[in-house]
Amino acid sequence: MSRGVVILGATGSVGRSALEVMAAQSEPPALEALTAYRDVERLAQLARAHRPRVAVIADPACGPALTAALSGTGIEIAAGMDALADVAGGTGSDTVLSAIVGAAGLLPTLAAVHAGKRVLIANKEPLVMAGGIVMAAARASGAEILPVDSEHNAIFQCLPTGYRCGQPPEGVERLILTASGGPFRSWSRAEMAAATPAQAVAHPNWEMGAKISVDSATMMNKGLEVIEAHWLFATAAEHIDIVVHPQSIVHSLVVYRDGSLLAQMGAPDMRIPIANALGHPERLPSGAATLDLIRAGSLQFEPADAERFPCLRLARAAIDGTDAAPTVLNAANEVAVEAFLSGRLAFDGIAAVIEATLEGAGRLAVRDSANLDAVIGLDGWARAFATERIAGAKYTA
Ligand SMILES: NC(=O)c1ccc[n+]([C@@H]2O[C@H](COP(=O)([O-])OP(=O)(O)OC[C@H]3O[C@@H](n4cnc5c(N)ncnc54)[C@H](OP(=O)(O)O)[C@@H]3O)[C@@H](O)[C@H]2O)c1
Repeated sequence: MSRGVVILGATGSVGRSALEVMAAQSEPPALEALTAYRDVERLAQLARAHRPRVAVIADPACGPALTAALSGTGIEIAAGMDALADVAGGTGSDTVLSAIVGAAGLLPTLAAVHAGKRVLIANKEPLVMAGGIVMAAARASGAEILPVDSEHNAIFQCLPTGYRCGQPPEGVERLILTASGGPFRSWSRAEMAAATPAQAVAHPNWEMGAKISVDSATMMNKGLEVIEAHWLFATAAEHIDIVVHPQSIVHSLVVYRDGSLLAQMGAPDMRIPIANALGHPERLPSGAATLDLIRAGSLQFEPADAERFPCLRLARAAIDGTDAAPTVLNAANEVAVEAFLSGRLAFDGIAAVIEATLEGAGRLAVRDSANLDAVIGLDGWARAFATERIAGAKYTA
């Protein structure tokens, strides 16, 4: 285990699971920092229970409330996005769990990578929008990237011992990402068009934050994961397949040159990949139940349907398109999902807004995403474009 850990996004679903895993160890690692966006109450409650050295709230307006909530505890308080990057890149830790949702995690994650830490990545959006930049920074600093997303952690576990992310894996022909199919796996497009936010976030197998739950319902989550796998495992997207597996027991597979398929299996419980990444290369107890194969019964595998789930097609087109396209895809998706969750956009409007934003970027020949400033500029452009499309009420529920 590590000397000191920072949890970016501690109040979220992944962050809280990580705290449970750490608390279950006989010798828990020191906690350097816990961070949140605006949820002062939950951050204060977690900080009182787990005693980090610092608690950081990203929204500066929430700083005074956090100071009041933690008064007398001796826990240092910091506020603002810069403070997140400071703790992520600071000397008080050697391990950073990147578990913020969305593009907001990019700069703190990069700060940890630049500082050469062990960076446990659950926050897939920075890899989608700027994977080349993140992986190049890791190569330059010597940072070790460890995947936490369950599919990518499964692939990591099936790769040869000693494998380090960012290198093409030896003897591997293909990677297969499994997908549960989400809550609308068997719904028609017409049924999905009228889906409500409550139906979309009701995932059949996993308990997750709202954004990734909607991404699972549109299957954009799997599209984002193809791009994430492309960067983590230095593998061309055409060698990364998606297979629908409704039971979420086989978490992903590696296909070797000799015809062997290696799969990682387990209960659908994020504590397993979190414990794997935290302890790597040692195996830590995770607190999750061990899978009972007899009770699990039969396992199904089906092809993914890009007709009913157009986000799969859009993500594939983005990774095959210009370098800029995944950045645009990610930003438009974040804006569209937020609009859907707040009742301003119909479910089928999510894919429509993303497609229109990608087309808009194509018309403008927007293609520069070679450096961080360009990525941030492009992300802002795509957000403004998608927001305008939604406000135009063209896709309103
Ligand atoms: N949940 C899963 O099972 C799972 C599995 C695989 C991968 N992932 C990935 O892991 C990431 C986190 O997912 P999640 O489900 O844990 O999300 P979540 O439950 O929504 O938690 C998000 C966390 O990020 C913080 N946050 C949100 N916006 C922020 C901002 N602008 N600046 C700083 N912090 C911000 C939140 O703070 P507040 O609480 O204060 O808002 C919270 O701590 C996502 O990228 C997701 O795709 C999740």
